[in-house]
Amino acid sequence: MHEHDVIVVGGGGAGLRAAIAAHEEGADVAIVTKLHPVRSHTGAAEGGINAALRDGDDWHDHAYDTMKGSDYLGDAPAIETLCEMSPEETIQLEHWGMPFSREDDGRVSQRPFGGLSFPRTTYAGAETGHHLLHTMYEQVVKRGITVYDEFYVINLAVTGEEDPEERSCHGCIAYDIKSGDLVGFKASGGVILATGGDGQAFDHTTNAVANTGDGPAMAYRAGVPLEDMEFVQFHPTTLPSTGVLISEGVRGEGGILYNSEGERFMFERGYANNAGELASRDVVSRAELTEVNNGRGIEDEYVYLDMRHLGEERITDRLENILHLAEDFEGVDGLEEPMPVKPGQHYHMGGIEVNEHGESCISGLYAAGECACVSVHGSNRLGGNALPELIVFGAMAGRHAAGKDLGEAEIKTGPSASIEEETDIETPVAPGAIDQPDPDVAADGGALADADAVVERALERERERIETLMERDGVNHADIRSDLQDAMTRWVNVFREEEGLKKALEAIRECRERYQEVAVADPSRTFNTDLIHTIETRNLIDVAETITLGALARNEFRGAHWRAEHQERDDENWLKHTMIAWNDGQPHIYYTNVILEGADKKYEPKIRSY
Ligand code: FUM
Repeated sequence: MHEHDVIVVGGGGAGLRAAIAAHEEGADVAIVTKLHPVRSHTGAAEGGINAALRDGDDWHDHAYDTMKGSDYLGDAPAIETLCEMSPEETIQLEHWGMPFSREDDGRVSQRPFGGLSFPRTTYAGAETGHHLLHTMYEQVVKRGITVYDEFYVINLAVTGEEDPEERSCHGCIAYDIKSGDLVGFKASGGVILATGGDGQAFDHTTNAVANTGDGPAMAYRAGVPLEDMEFVQFHPTTLPSTGVLISEGVRGEGGILYNSEGERFMFERGYANNAGELASRDVVSRAELTEVNNGRGIEDEYVYLDMRHLGEERITDRLENILHLAEDFEGVDGLEEPMPVKPGQHYHMGGIEVNEHGESCISGLYAAGECACVSVHGSNRLGGNALPELIVFGAMAGRHAAGKDLGEAEIKTGPSASIEEETDIETPVAPGAIDQPDPDVAADGGALADADAVVERALERERERIETLMERDGVNHADIRSDLQDAMTRWVNVFREEEGLKKALEAIRECRERYQEVAVADPSRTFNTDLIHTIETRNLIDVAETITLGALARNEFRGAHWRAEHQERDDENWLKHTMIAWNDGQPHIYYTNVILEGADKKYEPKIRSY
């Protein structure tokens, strides 16, 4: 068993920032990650980091834009922390050597981004995430922080009290991809989940194949509620054949969207008369699909994004990466032709319910980054707000797990904070575990006093699980995953309706049932991607189910959650966060209040137009 003060699961932006912060507090910290850190999906983030750095800008304006972008479902204290801290964290990156793009006078460049009232997106070409990852990895190496790369964390070591809020997390169990061994990790201070997104629940996504919702699924089964899972972001400009992202930076620099009739539809069809292409992502994605559905798409599938008028010099200076992506993945020369684009799954606003310090309701279990929901994005994230979230809340989680006193967190809402039970959601099939409670959390009941014993017990359980998967004959995970992705893409996409959501729940149930017979065909112990994908598929099933349950229950149209039957935002009934708790196999939905009170103002919900 490996022992450290703090274990960070995941080596992307949030994980690296958390590890550096914990190390600076004097903790012995280790990163356990299924990929080498610089291969993490943060590296695919193109656009930038929103930070109020310039004269004339103010973090309060950033906070207002973020709250408006969230469609008033973000929590004001968390949003204010994000926006106030982002400049400091961004400058920290600069001091660590991040190669930001610059103006001729030497100042760090900033560009407009969707939903922002000021051009405050700081960037490094169209490869901001790549440089951020490398900059922070250098700091990890410099500090000698231990990195267990190619160790896939497959479960948490959590005590088994009946009430999840009385449980504690003492570590995790990982599959050592290189040796084939299962390894226990014990953490005396805390385990920080920083596992990123879960875009593989959909079949058209900007997300890497590794983004399989591992953190949310493990936390959920251990007893932590997942928050606002119905809010999934579909980015308006992805390449049709692959889902590869074409950065919002293109529109930030002046790129224009056209339909098949050559109309600049964002203005000409009245979708966003002020901001046009730079309306927030939910607005632009719906506009594009409406154009396609009304017969004004190209090949009935996509629209055009044109940047030719920006000129070669500006494009190669600020968007060179985009030229390569369009050429390599679509065979299009962006200097000579418009690029085909369509909406694709990009980001999950929902995630593991945590407070600003990254604490979940299970003691010793933290989360940061996309897998977490501190509640800064609400029902729609603004472009350029994911990277500041990683660095601001990654650092806070790292410090807190290392024992630094950060004072009271403004929000802490475990299952006991329920304000309302959901009673009238009718599901066509029973969601949740099949036959019996999931055994992840001590099926033998009760807590073990000794942390070593908790980790050993979890290790033993995982060994049994893996042996079963390896030894039996059965169904291959790939068919299950593909059916799950089809269902989610068909029925839980940009446009949602009750009947489709119910069909999705039925399809997910079927996937869950087939998963009971899943087996790993590849008998090898080392580099067994068949085994990894099999475990991931179970996580995707749990995550997909919570997305769909939350979406079916939310009878309103807010941010990225559009419902055919409910065409209005309903502040009277739905100004609340969805929480879904696993409750030993029975998904339980309840709601908590949205916090609109900031430090010195209340954010009054307004009509949201761009
Ligand atoms: O479009 C983009 O460059 C993506 C940025 C983001 O998701 O924040």
